[in-house]
This record gives sequence, structure tokens and C-alpha cells, in this order.
Amino acid sequence: MAAMVIYPLILCAFGLAVLIAYLVLIPSKYKGPPAGSGGSGVSVHVLVLGDIGRSPRMTYHALSIAKHGGKVNLIGYLETAPHPDVLSGPNITIAPLPTPPRRPSSIPFILFAPFKVLSQVYHLTHLLAYALPPAQWILVQNPPSIPTLAIASLICRLRGSKLMIDWHNYGWTILAGTRGANHPLVSISKLYECYFGRHGASHLTVTHAMARQLRQPPYSIAQPMLAVHDRPAAIFQPISPVASTSTSTRHAILNRVIAPENADLIPRILDHSVRLVVSSTSWTPDEDFSILLDALTQYATSSSVPFLVIITGKGPQKAHYLARIASLTKAGRLPNVRIATAFLPFPDYAALLACADLGICLHMSSSGVDLPMKVVDMFGAGLPVAAYSGYESFGELVREGENGCGFETAEELAGILGRLLGGEGGSGSGSGSGRAELEVLRRGAVREGSRRWDEEWDRTVGRVMGFTS
Ligand SMILES: *[C@@H]1O[C@H](CO)[C@@H](O)[C@H](O)[C@H]1NC(C)=O
Repeated sequence: MAAMVIYPLILCAFGLAVLIAYLVLIPSKYKGPPAGSGGSGVSVHVLVLGDIGRSPRMTYHALSIAKHGGKVNLIGYLETAPHPDVLSGPNITIAPLPTPPRRPSSIPFILFAPFKVLSQVYHLTHLLAYALPPAQWILVQNPPSIPTLAIASLICRLRGSKLMIDWHNYGWTILAGTRGANHPLVSISKLYECYFGRHGASHLTVTHAMARQLRQPPYSIAQPMLAVHDRPAAIFQPISPVASTSTSTRHAILNRVIAPENADLIPRILDHSVRLVVSSTSWTPDEDFSILLDALTQYATSSSVPFLVIITGKGPQKAHYLARIASLTKAGRLPNVRIATAFLPFPDYAALLACADLGICLHMSSSGVDLPMKVVDMFGAGLPVAAYSGYESFGELVREGENGCGFETAEELAGILGRLLGGEGGSGSGSGSGRAELEVLRRGAVREGSRRWDEEWDRTVGRVMGFTS
């Protein structure tokens, strides 16, 4: 056990020595914007230690800065295709980081992690201290925290840039979720995150609850802090409620996104005699999918309104749950409920959400103070949600009776499904109270989803960076 801790420590010390030697060649300093340049003089390095194409929030920051005439270097891995506007815009340059080495399965995590971190330290330092010109701001996503927070804060000191930390979550709570709360790296990364977290000149958070928490120990952050809520991407839009176009639009979408084996249900989905429920998941342990399966079996025994449940996404536990779904179906526990899985291109996923009757979210926040992006997108498509509610920040996004319903157990979810969707269906049939409630929620979802990123950004980050007043 001692060797397992000492070995990485020696490596880290060695890395630190190399780093200090490297930094003796002091990098150039930021000297202020060119005279008379206004907003176009602001330069920002937007940094995420992740795939740029799968970092929507950092992408939106970059696009917003560029839209106001700022100059952005967007730093991260180039794995999937970045947002097209990032590639086409004249004010954004992508500064790719080399993809980190992958861990061979024969090497334990705790021995491999220091190697990976050292290589990241080297590439980040090289890029931020020498390859790129100094910027007025470095805007860094947290997590991942190691080694970005330390490097970014060091570079800001050396080059006279200001550090802005965008807190999406906490690195140490995620690590505790995947490695176990007692793993030695969990407490190290907690100390690290609390220490370097205090080095920001200003901070952004995804919720008010997170901002409140960061003010308290162990974080004890004293600098200015603003909550900037995520907003849906432009691709998520409700279907126009005008009846003449809405049915044909929905028909075209359903034909495209529903697999042939369920195509027989399309006419009945269109007239609402079959309800379309959508859930998206990354099939990881922090979403307990058995809650949904249990709720569906309970629902199926008490209601006769049929469902098509489409679950989208890829992930490690998918095969496990598919086997459970197959055995429940075979045992006759899911009469009237068909469950399909899919992995859809982004535009098709957005269109599917706009056609559905209810979205389901099983996100269980590891920090208790983040929010699920998928619910933001569902609202963007005008889709009301039933979402797991057992964490502090839940009410900042989902408001009971206004745009969705919260549940903590399968029984509660089954109750919601029965109440909202299990009543009498059919177009033009007398509207039960569940139908009326669902319509209220739908209008609330459309309202919530109509609040978009630009207005949120302009009155928060835009002001701090000096683009808007
Ligand atoms: C890029 O910046 C200029 C000012 O330098 C601005 O006029 C223009 O609108 C920006 N372009 C985009 C696509 O954001």
C-alpha cells in the first residue's frame, strides 16, 4: 500500500522539477488590449481537458465571446467534430491538445494516472505558456480539475491573465462515484480542488446551489461568483402548435426515428392512443435504470393505455438492462409497454423529443448541486419531464406542477405515469384531469425552454468580461 502512494508521489516530484526548470524560461506577459480596439481586443483561452465536440457549454462560451468580437483560442481534445460555428467563425481558433495515452488494462489505475497527468502537464504548459500568445482571460472548465486548475492558475500568474473557473461539478465527487469514497486519490483530489479553486479571479457555476456551496468550507471561495444556468441548444425546438402542420411534421419525424419493428405504432402515437415516452441515458451506475423498469411494470398492471418507451444513448450497463427488459417482457410483466433502445444522430434526437408525450430523467447528481443537461434540452423541445428529484439543485430547473414532476422511487414514478398518461387517450376524447395537467406542464416546458443561452450569457459572463454593460 505504501509503495502505491510513494511511487506516484516520486513521479509527481520529478514532474514538478521538470516543470520548474521549464518555467525558468519565463513566458511573455499579457500587456492589455490593443488601443482603441473595444470588444475585439478581449482575448480568451477557453480550456477544457476533454473532447471539444462533447463540451457544449465551453463551446457556447467560445461562441458567445466570438459573437461579441472577442478572440478565442479553444483548447481541448479533437475527438468528435466540434460545433460547425466553431470551425467556420473567424474569431475562434482551435488549439488541440494531443489525445492522452490510454491505460492498458494490465496497468492499475493508480500507477497509470501519474504518467497520464505528467503528459497532460507537459502539453498544457507548452501550449499555454509558449505556443499561444498571452490572453486577458483563461476560462477553464472544472472538472476535470487535474492538472488543469493548477496549470491554468500558474500560467495566469506568470503571464498576467485572469483566471475564470466554470464549475460544472466537482472532480472529487465524480472520482468517489467511480473509484469508491475511500480511494486515496479522492481525498487528494478534494484537497487539490479546494486549494486551486480559490485561485480564480472570478467563478461561474451551473446552479445557485453550487455557488452557495462553494462559498462554504471546504471550498471557502471568496471571489465574485455567478450562476450561469445551462440553456438548450438552438437545435432543440418545439413543434409549431398549428394543427395543420403539426401532424404532418410529427408523422415525418416518427417515420424517420422509430425503428421498423415499432412502425406499426406510429398512427396510434399520432392520435395519442399510444403514448410516446423518451429517456436518454449514458447507461452508467449513477442512473438507476431499475427505477424506470420497476415503474413500468407497476404501471402496466394498473393501466391499459399503451406506451412506446424509447431509450437513447450508449454506455457500459446497456447490455445488462437489455437482458432485464427482455426477461420482463417474456414473463409478461410489461403488457402494453414496448421498450426500444436507439442511438440517434443529434437532429433526430432533438426531433424525437419534440414529438414525445413525456421525457424521463434518472440523473442522480453526484455532487447534489448540478443539473442534467438532458432535461434542459427536453424543455428546449417543449417536452415536460418526470425526473429524479432527490438532490438540492433540482428545483432550479424542474418546478413541480409547472414544467414537470419529481420522483424518488419507482412507486412515485409509476403514479406519475398513470396520472399523466394512463387516463383516457384518443384524439378529441374527453380530456381527463391527467391530460389537462400534462398540457399545463407542456406549456411550462415550452416557456422554460424558450429562455436561451445568449440572454443568460450576456447578463452574466458578458458583463464580467466587459462585452456587455
Ligand atoms: C468577429 O469579430 C468581429 C470584430 O472583431 C465582429 O465584428 C464579428 O461579428 C465577429 N464574427 C463572428 C462570426 O462572431
